[in-house]
Amino acid sequence: MNKKVVLAILVMAAAVSASAPGCMPEPTLAPAEKQPEHTFAVNGSVREMNIYPEMPEFPEREGKSDFVTYCGICHTLKYISNQPDFPAKVWEAEVTKMVVKYHAPVDSAHAKKIVDYLVAIKGK
Ligand code: HEC
Repeated sequence: MNKKVVLAILVMAAAVSASAPGCMPEPTLAPAEKQPEHTFAVNGSVREMNIYPEMPEFPEREGKSDFVTYCGICHTLKYISNQPDFPAKVWEAEVTKMVVKYHAPVDSAHAKKIVDYLVAIKGK
């Protein structure tokens, strides 16, 4: 083997080992204030993502905590804030649909409080 070939092999070996996973610099998390909103943050091997970054404002009233607790389990509460105002029977049917069709774990006492809250804030 001539010297040039040996040198080329050494250079290639160095390049391969430099790009091996163990030699990669650890990704660092940008300071919170520098992260654009709704980003996917990488911190070492841990990935973090805000699934429901937007939390709409809901008026403080009787039943709000039941509503926020149960109706935010599967989807963002924007599903509700984006709806137009509905008559009571439409809200009742909507909550029943969540329970019967999608198996929302809401018993009838809580369902009633939630319907009353929805009618109070988005009823017509
Ligand atoms: C067990 C999961 C689950 C829970 C808990 C839940 N929902 Fe839903 N909700 C769904 C699914 C699934 C959809 C349909 C999503 C789609 O079509 O993209 C949906 C859709 C909606 C919609 C959009 C209109 C529609 O009918 O598709 C509204 C409004 C809604 N939910 C209100 C509520 C309210 C109010 C509560 C609290 C009582 C609630 N959800 C709790 C699963 C759930």
